[in-house]
Amino acid sequence: MTEQDFILKSYDSDLNEGAVKWTSPSNIALVKYWGKRAHQIPENPSISFTLSNCKTITEVSFTKKEGSDFSFDVYFEGEKNEAFKPKIQTFFERIEAYVPFLRDFHFKIDTSNTFPHSSGIASSASGMSALALCLMSIEKQLGVTHNTDFFNKKASFLARLGSGSACRSIEGELVVWGQNKSTASSDLFGVRYAEDVHANFKNYQDTILLVDKGEKQVSSTVGHKLMFGHPFAAQRFNQAHENLEKLTAILKSGDLDEFINIVESEALTLHAMMMTSMPYFILMKPNTLEIINKIWSYRKESDSKLCFTLDAGANVHLLYPENEKDTVLRFIENQLSRYCQNGHFIEDQVGKGSECVKN
Ligand code: DP6
Repeated sequence: MTEQDFILKSYDSDLNEGAVKWTSPSNIALVKYWGKRAHQIPENPSISFTLSNCKTITEVSFTKKEGSDFSFDVYFEGEKNEAFKPKIQTFFERIEAYVPFLRDFHFKIDTSNTFPHSSGIASSASGMSALALCLMSIEKQLGVTHNTDFFNKKASFLARLGSGSACRSIEGELVVWGQNKSTASSDLFGVRYAEDVHANFKNYQDTILLVDKGEKQVSSTVGHKLMFGHPFAAQRFNQAHENLEKLTAILKSGDLDEFINIVESEALTLHAMMMTSMPYFILMKPNTLEIINKIWSYRKESDSKLCFTLDAGANVHLLYPENEKDTVLRFIENQLSRYCQNGHFIEDQVGKGSECVKN
């Protein structure tokens, strides 16, 4: 498929108003997206677990308006929010060719998250995917017919233009984004991972340790740009292809030791890229390292398959099989929660993707 396939050419213009509502989850990458070209095309393929509890709930009400400017108001957790507007304005500008009805209506965007906003958990993936899904439902109300496959592809395509990782939040339980030779894939949207997945990964757990709830020192968008001219960029992009290929075999065989090797290496490589860019950043905090060391000792002392991954921040995602849920939670409570801000962590697990509330 190409970009052209997503351009909406005609629609019923008699609709005057309506409302749609979706929930969409966050996701956690196993092979990381870090580096992009123009138009949100990733430099390398990535794969993520879709989450279940960490999600955004967005309702979009729309009324026909005069004039051709974009017109919208954003409410976050019931209160009018000006801070989100520029990001949504940019999003609308990027996608208007594909959803030209954006200029026909005034939109009221009412959004909230199930996780605390100041938790340092990236809300762009869940937020942008929820909004993209709402726009697809509006497209449907405008008399455009599409099957579920096209609906999801275009939702993911639009979400990508809002935030790259958001294109991996439409479906579950594993989603690949970025062309590669190991899986069905596209640079334009996320594709549900359709290869065999071993029972070891069923209901895989993700407990997010909130080490630092503050604003990020460097936004992902700025971070991605630092991969231009980065001395290790080409090697890193190749490595992501290799790691994805290895991971497809691991997901099939259920080899959790090899899974740990790839996932932890990817997390540390992401941070190594930030530490070796110009300018350079360290986004891990002392407590991030304390937690990593504790996990490594815990694995040495037990036969646990607990491992960690990181986003572009200090928080730590703990990934582990469902059958270790009780023991790992006890370990977190006894030994890791002390490194979290106010002792906070969020229990989540792999999920099935977005859900329509009002179509
Ligand atoms: C470190 O999707 O937030 O979480 O496309 O600029 O919005 P933009 O970036 P974003 O980058 C996320 C990068 C990451 C790794 C990943 O999720 O793959």
